[in-house]
Amino acid sequence: MKVLLTGATGYIGSAVTDHLAAAGHQVVALTRGAEPQPGRGWHARLVGDTADPASLAGVVTPDIEAVIHLAPPSGDVDVDTAVVEALAAPLRGTGRPFVYTSGVWVLGATGGAQEVGEQAPTDPIDIVGYRPRIEQRVLAEAAEGVRAVVVRPGIVYGRGGGIPAVLVDRARVQGVPEYYGEEGVRWPTVHVDDLAELFVAVVERAGAGTVWHGVGESAVPVRDLARAAGRAAGVLAVPRVVPVEQAAEVFGPLFADALALDQSVGGGAARAVLGWRPERPGVVAELVSGSYRPVEVFGAPGGPQTDAEVTAIRRLVAEIEHAQQNELVDRFLGLFRREDPVWTTGHGKRLSGFEEIAAFTRKVLPGAAVESTAVYDVERVLFLRSDVAAVNVRQQPVRHDGTRITDRPEGRPFYILVKEDGAWRVGAAQNTVAVD
Ligand SMILES: NC(=O)c1ccc[n+]([C@@H]2O[C@H](COP(=O)([O-])OP(=O)(O)OC[C@H]3O[C@@H](n4cnc5c(N)ncnc54)[C@H](OP(=O)(O)O)[C@@H]3O)[C@@H](O)[C@H]2O)c1
Repeated sequence: MKVLLTGATGYIGSAVTDHLAAAGHQVVALTRGAEPQPGRGWHARLVGDTADPASLAGVVTPDIEAVIHLAPPSGDVDVDTAVVEALAAPLRGTGRPFVYTSGVWVLGATGGAQEVGEQAPTDPIDIVGYRPRIEQRVLAEAAEGVRAVVVRPGIVYGRGGGIPAVLVDRARVQGVPEYYGEEGVRWPTVHVDDLAELFVAVVERAGAGTVWHGVGESAVPVRDLARAAGRAAGVLAVPRVVPVEQAAEVFGPLFADALALDQSVGGGAARAVLGWRPERPGVVAELVSGSYRPVEVFGAPGGPQTDAEVTAIRRLVAEIEHAQQNELVDRFLGLFRREDPVWTTGHGKRLSGFEEIAAFTRKVLPGAAVESTAVYDVERVLFLRSDVAAVNVRQQPVRHDGTRITDRPEGRPFYILVKEDGAWRVGAAQNTVAVD
């Protein structure tokens, strides 16, 4: 399909561009400026400004087979209604899709433990007070022969961006992770690439007059998210809850209220009806060992293939951390290559071969995490070959509440990893205590 996409240069729009193109569609990007945008997978571009509906006249030409409207609303209902009119009217009578991007904040505080679905009435917080009216305006186009659809994303994360990146920055600047409002606040979340796949599914097969929640995890405790944001910022500390009035001084009252909003929102309809599968790592895992933590990479060309290998390597190191923290002997041993692995401990004891490593692990791992444990962060990956990687890791001792034990030295594990039968395994490992 030839798809006109507003907001194509933005956070979500960039991912939607990638996934539309990967699914064989042609993206016609509507942008405010005409400056070159190298590297974008756009088929064509048009200039238009959604703050000036008149500038959109004629952009939806007869060859446009779908419109996805991702540019943020102006907040002026008249302007935003005129934008919908300009983009949807040319599709009338064609049965072609017009997809409007709203958000879960139109549902307001959901309360209780129950997930709120697509049928729930709207009760918007002030920052999106106008949006339900725009949603209704869009859905009314179904009666005019437009396949009008509304998508409400949760809090979007991934690719190192979105609102979670704000929490990472705040943790870095403040020296302590923060979250806002009350202790028990929860956010519905979605990975930006999962969300982009939902947009593709919606444009291809959602029925007219439908509403879809783009939500991967329905209610993530923001306290956990803030702790992970702290880790991404290199701040291993207990998160602090900031009262909403104080947050308003930093973010303004409207955005502060949104950050403090407690919601549990389900995205079951898209899974059940459209076959949507949001299977990327959750927001906490993404913050701890994903796109919010850049890794130095050497010996491999940049690109999606290398990114995928680095992700798989980070996942292996996250499994090492998990097995160590939870004293899981068999899980830990399962991460080693069977053939002649070698492991030298931080105290210089060399363990040769799988059996020696297994015997030592069975002796020392049970009980090792009773008082404290450690976090492991990949810092550098050198691909010696496409299937052999030398990996530098930073190991920091922490208490069970995730706070750094400052009077204990860090470790600097060094792993030689080998990819066999599609999975990375530890072939050789050496830990070294870091002395200042
Ligand atoms: N991020 C989230 O967590 C989230 C959650 C729920 C809903 N949403 C909604 O999803 C939509 C996209 O969000 P996002 O996070 O991708 O935003 P974003 O990164 O700020 O991107 C906004 C995009 O809209 C374009 N744009 C802004 N004003 C415009 C105008 N007057 N005319 C034409 N284009 C304009 C921007 O183009 P320029 O390159 O010219 O700036 C950019 O491409 C918004 O409606 C947002 O409310 C976002």
